[in-house]
Amino acid sequence: MTVDRLEQPEWMTSDPNWWTKATIYQIYPRSFYLANPKARTSRLQNTPPFRTKMHPNDDIVGDIEGISAKLDYLKWLGIDAIWLSPIYPSPMADYGYDISSYTDVDPLFGSLEDMDNLIKNAHARQIRVILDWVPNHTSSLHPWFQDSISSKNSAKRDWYIWRDPKPDGSPPNNWKASLTNESAWTFDENSGQYYLHFFLKEQPDLNWNNPEVVKSMDEVLRFWLDRGVDGFRIDVVHCTGKDDELADSDEARSWAPRSVIHEDPSTHGLLSHWRELAKSYKQNPVLIGEVFLLTLGQIVNYYGNSDELDLAFTFPAVFIGWNAAQFKSLILELKSIYDGKNAYPAWVLSNHDLPRHLSRFRGSLNTAKCAALMLLSLRGTPFVFQGEELGLTDVKLEPQQEVDPGHRDGSRAPIPWDKSPNHGWPIDRDPWLPWPPDSDEKNVEVNSLIQEGVTHTYKSLIELRKQNLALLEGSMEIIEGIDEKVLAYSRIGENSSVAVLINFSSHDIEISQFNGCEIIFDTFTNQPGGHFGGTLEGEAGVILKIR
Ligand code: NOJ
Repeated sequence: MTVDRLEQPEWMTSDPNWWTKATIYQIYPRSFYLANPKARTSRLQNTPPFRTKMHPNDDIVGDIEGISAKLDYLKWLGIDAIWLSPIYPSPMADYGYDISSYTDVDPLFGSLEDMDNLIKNAHARQIRVILDWVPNHTSSLHPWFQDSISSKNSAKRDWYIWRDPKPDGSPPNNWKASLTNESAWTFDENSGQYYLHFFLKEQPDLNWNNPEVVKSMDEVLRFWLDRGVDGFRIDVVHCTGKDDELADSDEARSWAPRSVIHEDPSTHGLLSHWRELAKSYKQNPVLIGEVFLLTLGQIVNYYGNSDELDLAFTFPAVFIGWNAAQFKSLILELKSIYDGKNAYPAWVLSNHDLPRHLSRFRGSLNTAKCAALMLLSLRGTPFVFQGEELGLTDVKLEPQQEVDPGHRDGSRAPIPWDKSPNHGWPIDRDPWLPWPPDSDEKNVEVNSLIQEGVTHTYKSLIELRKQNLALLEGSMEIIEGIDEKVLAYSRIGENSSVAVLINFSSHDIEISQFNGCEIIFDTFTNQPGGHFGGTLEGEAGVILKIR
């Protein structure tokens, strides 16, 4: 059965695998842009008293109208879809990943009407809208949990994971919560039982073995799909299913080494169920998984037999430095694991949980351009995290300025739109986090004018990718026999092929085998032009036409 609630244009319904050709842009709404401070102030006057104020300016954040206001910039950049980190009502213990209602919008960000407008405005520009969906846990202030904690006899008691203490009163098992690295269990004095939370105690884990949870969340998915959203990025999806035994684990479950390593086979059944639900909608919603596991071999399982996730982030790419040999071996490993399983990769270098890649790489703007070349020319769907196209690095905070319990503030600083003191934001106080370094130069206004700058590297490559079928649809092979400081691969289309050469070192490297090939992209100019002369400059990358 397909849903006909909305009129859907041909461009939206015609390609069931549209995301294989899309460039997807992650928006962290708190830090993207604020368009309507007046409306926000009046909404906040009616905000329920649940929100704890973390610091005086923690309400100086972006809004949904601000996303609508910047769609033309995203269109100019060539973006095909935006993924919004959570916009739902939330006490903000984990900045929106603690959801207290799945079918509404937090008054900080706007209203349901603002979301409807955003979907409409984005679709008018052929930009799709993907929401973050957090099935593993709710906020402890979600009415479901409030009911569940109210009594052992609550009808919703079993919607969450409750267990008796061990005989000595200690938690039911040795699991550790990520973000805090403390026990994943919190004791409820009232009922004498513990509840499970893989993250903060304000984020109790749902019990997905309970069919009522499955049913209620189906309604959540339908609520948004009926409103026209084009898919979901599913938060820590590998954690969702739990067995009933909940035995001690050998390894503490924590973000050290930055991974929640829990896996249970029941998650696969849930995924194929959600896939079927999503695919009953005409807009061909995409399901993207945050499978935060450390090996590609583990991650690929969540594609199922092409009946679970459409995309899962290739997270091992964020654990390696700016090193050609390491990226080469990752690509070889990926090919050997993914190709046989028909799994299409989702490349990511930065997001709101990680230090920005330019900070991790300790790189220059030339490094940022080379990283963009890699991200946008590998086979797979590229994800761009807001601001990476400006060459942003992390904001450095004193410990007393930190607001995130997981110490992830660095990459979450607000986007500077211009070089004025407020960087284009209509605000009279400082934003919730300080501006990122060098905002006077690294802002949208300045960068959109610099043809050879990093923003144009993104813009030009996104455009080239759409036009060049080898880049868009071709297979990928590592090119062997080249200096180990150069990452070299080909993209092989039906009628044409290109070679991508990226020099990770700061010195010139001779590469004779492509002498004379036409240059169709060069990171120094962000343009095509000329023929390859056999030398690749330091911190430079090129795309060459080889067939
Ligand atoms: C992953 C999200 O990206 C992160 O920000 C959040 O803290 C955890 N999941 C818990 O929802």
